Amino acid sequence: MIIRVYMFFIFLLIATVGYAAPLYKDANATIEARVQDLISRMTLDEKIGQILLYSMDESKNIADGGLQKPFDWYKQNKVGLVLNAIDEDLIKIQTELGTNSRLGIPVLSMIDAINGHAFYPGATIFPSSLALSGTFNEKLMTQIGRVTAKEMSATGIHVTYTPGLDVARDLRWGRVGETLGEDTLLVSKLGVARIKGLQGSQLRDLNSVATSPKHMVGYSQTIGGRDATELLLSERELRTWFFPPFEAAIQEAKAPIVMAAYNSVLGIPASENAWLLNSVLRNEMGFKGFVVSDWENYDRLIDTHKTAKGPVAAAVAMLTSGNDVAMSAYDQPEALREAFKNGLLDEAVLDTSVARILSVKFALGLFDNKEKVFPSSARQQSTLLSKEHQDLAKQAATQSMVLLKNQGVLPIKAREIKHIALIGPNANDIVAQLGDWSLGFRGQGRWMQEIPQRTASHSTFLNGLVQRAKQDGVRVTYVKGSDVLDNDFLETKKIVQAIGSADLVIAVLGDNRMLTGEQLDRAIMLPTGRQNEMMEIISQANKPTVTVYLSSKPLIITEAARQSDAIIMALNPGMKGGEAFAGLLFGDENFSGRLTLTLPHHTAQTPVYYNQPPGWHGSGYYADLPKETKLPKYPFGYGLSYTEFNYSDLVLDSDKLCKGCPLTGTFKLTNSGEVGGDEVIQLYLTDKVASVTRPERLLVHFDRVFVDSGETKEIKFEIPFERLAVLDKAMKWEVEPGDFDLFISTSSAKKDIQLQIGFSY
Ligand code: BGC
Repeated sequence: MIIRVYMFFIFLLIATVGYAAPLYKDANATIEARVQDLISRMTLDEKIGQILLYSMDESKNIADGGLQKPFDWYKQNKVGLVLNAIDEDLIKIQTELGTNSRLGIPVLSMIDAINGHAFYPGATIFPSSLALSGTFNEKLMTQIGRVTAKEMSATGIHVTYTPGLDVARDLRWGRVGETLGEDTLLVSKLGVARIKGLQGSQLRDLNSVATSPKHMVGYSQTIGGRDATELLLSERELRTWFFPPFEAAIQEAKAPIVMAAYNSVLGIPASENAWLLNSVLRNEMGFKGFVVSDWENYDRLIDTHKTAKGPVAAAVAMLTSGNDVAMSAYDQPEALREAFKNGLLDEAVLDTSVARILSVKFALGLFDNKEKVFPSSARQQSTLLSKEHQDLAKQAATQSMVLLKNQGVLPIKAREIKHIALIGPNANDIVAQLGDWSLGFRGQGRWMQEIPQRTASHSTFLNGLVQRAKQDGVRVTYVKGSDVLDNDFLETKKIVQAIGSADLVIAVLGDNRMLTGEQLDRAIMLPTGRQNEMMEIISQANKPTVTVYLSSKPLIITEAARQSDAIIMALNPGMKGGEAFAGLLFGDENFSGRLTLTLPHHTAQTPVYYNQPPGWHGSGYYADLPKETKLPKYPFGYGLSYTEFNYSDLVLDSDKLCKGCPLTGTFKLTNSGEVGGDEVIQLYLTDKVASVTRPERLLVHFDRVFVDSGETKEIKFEIPFERLAVLDKAMKWEVEPGDFDLFISTSSAKKDIQLQIGFSY
């Protein structure tokens, strides 16, 4: 009997141990414990699979023909991460590679949700990053992040490769439109705000997604604006201008993934740069997540940088340098297997990378919440493109547009203007309006061909204007006039005819996706095709004219365009761009956007970013350019409004700063115009004497405030002590004792300084 009871308990014990849910499935266990438990159960092949990332649209690289092929390939290699898979493809991947696999590890699904969840049919499309930076609005960035995350998570996508934290330097570079402008503080703050919106309060919430800030690092400082070329940067420049946005993304916003850039950093390709990825990113910045390489960085080590002799060397170099995931590296699985077989890689190195990836999957709640992997279609239907989301897209577009010149012609006075001639190729081109990273133009999805259906709810400038003008009985005649690309297309007669009977001419010119984006750098940033001739015809007509640059980045303002009574910079404003534009033109809304890139007179002035170190010998302009090029055409931070703001009474709480104390003070801001408006407040610092070269002025604080007509507001500011620091001779961030000036200005240019005050430390 005793033996029987004893046997019974042994049986019970075996049964419990044998059948209890494994620890990694226990939602109450810590992430570390779950990760360790899961890794201990994985085979070498499963671990290799866990670091593999392939893109759904790359089926051609896997095998010819048939969409079945990638699935077979993914399954065979036990792929752990997938890019650009949506709908039934994604469900199939999650079922076959996730749920139905031996250990049931969900696949991490990734996408470039940059202008919103824009590659997904029927999602809300916001203005481009550069356009949004012109709002100087952190709150708006967070709201847009939230909406994007809601739409992404409702379609089962877990990660976005956002935000781009490259600090713009050379306007010729094709990807300037993906940046948040040329100022490090602005890029950091807006980047953090966007990440916070996307990630929500915790990753495992239903509507939260993980972010992958990119491209680490210095990608924007390419030689001559040529995409992905070698950089000429010193460690000081890296640390001063290019590291801070990443540091902020990791420390303040807790981004769990970082993308390594295409380029080399101090001579070593970013994806095999252990100093960058381990010493700086992990040890100094405290990053705990995983690093994903940019597209085919693995192959670039072999055939571009030529630092690896072949696939095995590339695979080993990346993994041992801290680059956990190689994006689209088709012979990587075989290479890794061979590396292990030949003892070139320690399994512990692979385990570390696998642990980092699994930690993100656990943090996102993918093992615990089925809805995060297989979202319900009801949620998707009620979330995507909701009225609230569209309104936010319109608000963002409104705040992003920049009024550069206005000689009394705007806002449109319906009493005087009865007929508008709207002329130009970009006035009615939704594709040019949305810009790069919308609709999956470059083949990021198989769904990109459906442009007409997908853009049915969008408003071009023509649609927006016609609808708004109707309300005031104003007629709009549209003529395309010229083409962005076609050098033979110029509708001289039609242009002249349309102008003839019009009271106001609005010209909309710019670029389109054939002239901007990855691998599309420009040498001369003038309007292309015969747009300039179109502008000449318009300017000769001597009618009141508004010129609008609807482009991916600021283009040079030509002589004919300069003659216009008003000039507007409307950088890719997204799906509601037309409505926003019309609202601003008719004065329903006020302009409040600011330039976040300095705009030169001439491309040959490039680079022109405002905070470059001083010291140019001589006149301060090129000997073969006009004298006006001594200054940019429009400086960083510039932008007009329909109202007038006056600044006064700047005081500091103390003009002697104490160690570790923030610089605090107040000033008064009065709206002395007829209408209410948002003002972008900009505070710049001059460090009078420093141990190393510093720019003449540096943005140290910004804010956005609404002030009603006739109202005066007292504005308080607080600038953290560390923001005044300089990377000193010993490469340490220090606030050096000495004298400083603080400026309140309406742009980075000296001429726009409103108030000034000195202080010392
Ligand atoms: C770009 C990245 C992007 C990746 C995935 C690359 O071509 O450089 O910014 O995230 O593709 O689409």
